[in-house]
Amino acid sequence: MAVAPKPEILAAFEAAKGFMPLGEGLALYEAALDAGRLGLPLLEVGTYCGRSAILLGAAAREAGVVALTLDHHRGSEEQQPGWEYHDPETVDPELGVMDTLPTFRRTLYRAGLEEHVVALVGRSPQIAKVWGTPLGLVFVDGGHTDEHANADYEGWAPHVAEGGLLVIHDVFPEPEDEFTGQAPYRIYLRALGSGAFTEVSATDSLRVLRRTRAGIREQG
Ligand SMILES: C[S@@+](CC[C@H](N)C(=O)[O-])C[C@H]1O[C@@H](n2cnc3c(N)ncnc32)[C@H](O)[C@@H]1O
Repeated sequence: MAVAPKPEILAAFEAAKGFMPLGEGLALYEAALDAGRLGLPLLEVGTYCGRSAILLGAAAREAGVVALTLDHHRGSEEQQPGWEYHDPETVDPELGVMDTLPTFRRTLYRAGLEEHVVALVGRSPQIAKVWGTPLGLVFVDGGHTDEHANADYEGWAPHVAEGGLLVIHDVFPEPEDEFTGQAPYRIYLRALGSGAFTEVSATDSLRVLRRTRAGIREQG
């Protein structure tokens, strides 16, 4: 039976700025609790203002592991001024560029999860390149161009431990349903085609895959 987050965690999630609907959030929470049993860190690519990080942090607290959430905090392409997903409140008034880190820190503080979530501030491929610890879960919700989605997949999928989970957001198999491109769908197909991951669940655009084999193949 699915385990729901505590009411105060759900309230903090609902109050946070961000792009994750509740149904997908509950599926992410369940996946994070499952992966937490491995006793390894959980990592998110794409913090934004911390909405999904609240759920990873709450699951990490339950499981006795740490949640890591990574972002350069300058926003994705579609979040920049003039684009559909831009929020003027995320602009640093002094620099005139996006900075979602202060909002994220407030979100985390209000949710009471500062001790359970570590923020990694920087570009995903740079951090992946120096990463050396196996992860219980990797949640990919970063840049939605092919360049960024492929770099996230290539940089982080190898760090998912056997038995751990790779979770991908905004997977839209039908072109008419997508709203920020189909790059996440393409990395989902890459993961399945690699022979290393098997699908566990699909909740709207959220896909949960389990690493069932060590070797990650590339399809020709
Ligand atoms: C869709 S938002 C994440 C939404 C968040 N998970 C939530 O629940 O609201 C994508 C985030 O990825 C970040 N991002 C995009 N490309 C990145 C990269 N190459 N490295 C680090 N962060 C990146 C953006 O700054 C943005 O905050």
